[in-house]
Amino acid sequence: MPKKKSILDLYKMKEVGEKAAWIVLYDSCYASYAEEAGLDMILCGDSMGMIVYGYDGTVPVTMDMSIAHCQGVRRGAPNTYLIGDLPFGSYHTSTEDAVKNAIRFYKEADVDAVKLEGGIAVADKIKAITQAGMVVFGHIGLTPQSSASMGGFKAQGRTVESARAIIEDAIAVYNSGAKVLLLEGVPEEVCAYIHKMLPIPVYGIGAGIQCDGQVILAADSLGMYKNFTPKFAKKYVDIAALATQGMKEYVKEVKENVFPSPAHKYKISGDKEEFDKLFSEMEQYFKK
Ligand code: KIV
Repeated sequence: MPKKKSILDLYKMKEVGEKAAWIVLYDSCYASYAEEAGLDMILCGDSMGMIVYGYDGTVPVTMDMSIAHCQGVRRGAPNTYLIGDLPFGSYHTSTEDAVKNAIRFYKEADVDAVKLEGGIAVADKIKAITQAGMVVFGHIGLTPQSSASMGGFKAQGRTVESARAIIEDAIAVYNSGAKVLLLEGVPEEVCAYIHKMLPIPVYGIGAGIQCDGQVILAADSLGMYKNFTPKFAKKYVDIAALATQGMKEYVKEVKENVFPSPAHKYKISGDKEEFDKLFSEMEQYFKK
C-alpha cells in the first residue's frame, strides 16, 4: 500500500524538483486504478458535469453531486491525496457558505484539500477556508465555472493585459493563504513566471511544462470523452474505442447464442433427478 501524501510531501517534491502527476476522475473504480498507477493526487473535479452527467459545462454541478462522487473516489483510493472541487455557487454567496461547504468535503468525503476557482474576486473565501484550518488549492486562468463571461473555454493570459490580470490573481490567491496554485489554459511563459515568483507549488493543465507538475482529466487522457478534447490533452489509451468494440462483440454473441458459455453458468448442486421431479411438479402449477 502506498503511503498517502500530505501537503508537506507536495512541498518537499517541489523543493527537490520532483514533478507531481495528478488526475481528474469521479468514481471508485477509476480511483482504484489511479492509486495502483501511483498518481500523486486525485481531483474529483466538477468537470463531472460534462463527463458523467452530459451537461455542456460545470455550472449545474451541485454540492450533493460532488460529495457523492468524492466519497466514491475516496473508497476506491484510500491512500491517495484527494482534492474536492467546490462547485459553482457553493462559495460565491458568502465566506460562511464557502467555509460550510468546504467543511462538508472534509467531513463527508474525507478529502485532503479543496479547490476553488478565481483570484482577487474570491480572495476573502480562500482566506476564510484557510483560517478554518483547511487546505485550499487556488485555480486561475481558464476557469470553466466562469466560461460564460470568458466567451467559452478559451485560453487566458495571451495578451499583456490578460497576463497581468492572471499574475495579480496569482498574488491574491497566494496572499489569501492558498497552499497550492493551479493554472489552466495559459501560455507557458505566464505559468513559468508565476512558478518562479511564488514559493508555493504551482501546477498546470494546459500551461506548459515549467511548473511543479501536471493535471489531466482521465476522460481526456484515457480517451473516454468523445464530445471534445482540449488542445493540451494527450490521449494515452483509447477506452472509447475499446468499450465500443467490446459492446459490439457482446451484442453479437448474445444474438448468436454464444454467450453465456459453460464457463459463465452456475451448476446445479444435488441430484438431477430431484430437479426434474421439481420441474414436473411445478408444471402442474403452471397448467392451472
Ligand atoms: O474539474 C476539473 O476537471 C478541473 C480541472 C480542469 C483542473 O477543475
